[in-house]
Amino acid sequence: MNKEKENIEIKGPYSINGVFEVPGDKSISHRAVIISSLTKQKVIIDNFLLSQDCIRTLDIIEKLGVKYILKNTCLSIHGCGIESFQEPDDILYVGNSGTSIRLLAGILSTCDFLSVLSGDASINNRPMDRIINPLREMGAAIFGRACNNKAPLVIFGNRQLKGKVFMSDISSAQVKSCLLFAGLFAEGITEVRQPSISRDHTERMLEYFGAEIDYKNGKNVKINKSTLKGRNLYVPGDFSSAAFFIIAALILDDSEIIIKNLGINPTRAYLLEILKEMGGKIEVNNYRNINNEPVADLKVSSSNLKAIEINKKFIANIIDEIPILSVACAFASGNTLISGAEELRIKESDRIKAIVNEFNKVGIKTKENKDGLVIYGNKDYDLHQADIESYGDHRIAMALSIAALKGKKRILIKDSRCINTSFPGFKELLFRILN
Ligand code: S3P
Repeated sequence: MNKEKENIEIKGPYSINGVFEVPGDKSISHRAVIISSLTKQKVIIDNFLLSQDCIRTLDIIEKLGVKYILKNTCLSIHGCGIESFQEPDDILYVGNSGTSIRLLAGILSTCDFLSVLSGDASINNRPMDRIINPLREMGAAIFGRACNNKAPLVIFGNRQLKGKVFMSDISSAQVKSCLLFAGLFAEGITEVRQPSISRDHTERMLEYFGAEIDYKNGKNVKINKSTLKGRNLYVPGDFSSAAFFIIAALILDDSEIIIKNLGINPTRAYLLEILKEMGGKIEVNNYRNINNEPVADLKVSSSNLKAIEINKKFIANIIDEIPILSVACAFASGNTLISGAEELRIKESDRIKAIVNEFNKVGIKTKENKDGLVIYGNKDYDLHQADIESYGDHRIAMALSIAALKGKKRILIKDSRCINTSFPGFKELLFRILN
């Protein structure tokens, strides 16, 4: 493997062994910055994820007037409450980060000044009507390009938003969190009902900071106007980042890894249940609760995987893991149908298309469906030599890097810089534990 700046070159086959941690959770790091800045206390966030996406959120919060100090991965936020937020003197740039734009739009809708949120080409092409329409119903003046469906977003905030009940037809934690943040400062109760449960980090953190929030029902969440009280936080390892190594250990021969201090929130880590059902040897040890989030150490070893069907019911709980889960399915015995996953088409790339195109290039047989794909599994795939596109999508670049570890011929993952949006240090960690 050579360490070129922009590409990852792999010629296997490899095995993987080691005891390690992955960097802090991306979803929790975004929320930790936003929620801490709404308090009037100093909050220390330990193990903050220094990825491009989370740094965008931090930069924006700073542009709104919040002070912070960052030493390695220890971040202290010195919030003075939302009343102290100031009108930014420039556009607020989120880069590639969907979580930043959608969550911050909820907050900015409650601030009485003008702000403009914009991102890179991928962000400015992703749907925003899913947050614009409900925020408008609460009384926010928010506008977007393409008939109010795309960023840049222009927001004239309003301190008198009204709480409402929303019945959403998509299960999205970004939409839910956006509305919960707006609801935190709106008059009356805001309720978000979604068809299935999506990741609940916002609810857990708001509860930990003292908000009046009820999410015990899972699919329906209610929030009342609340004042938050700052409390220090530890960010556990990112399950979505760990997923690349979990699946590497399962599909590669003679492999065994231990990943310590990993977030295993059930609304996020449903992949573990799927992999266990596929025959994956996975042990969950040292289970504990840290700052309202479940954390554990995982032991994973080489396994003979078998295909199972993956349908809509739990898609929201594995949404970011489908590219790497597809790699596990490729080396399982039997064929896998993944359905009900149309949301994948509007992520950082059209992930259904990206997986199908790039798997076919290396010789993994797949079929594209409108709402998912079929993967024809074969433990003994002899992968072709190929140059793989990342589509500027971190999870596609990392998933294909893991698939390439099984091949005997050279596979080049082009433009792998995008990995820094969620997992700085991915290549270095991978190099360290491969044999
Ligand atoms: C995220 C929610 C998910 C996920 C994204 C992070 C979050 O998006 O894909 O990477 O932090 O809330 P949706 O909730 O829109 O599916």
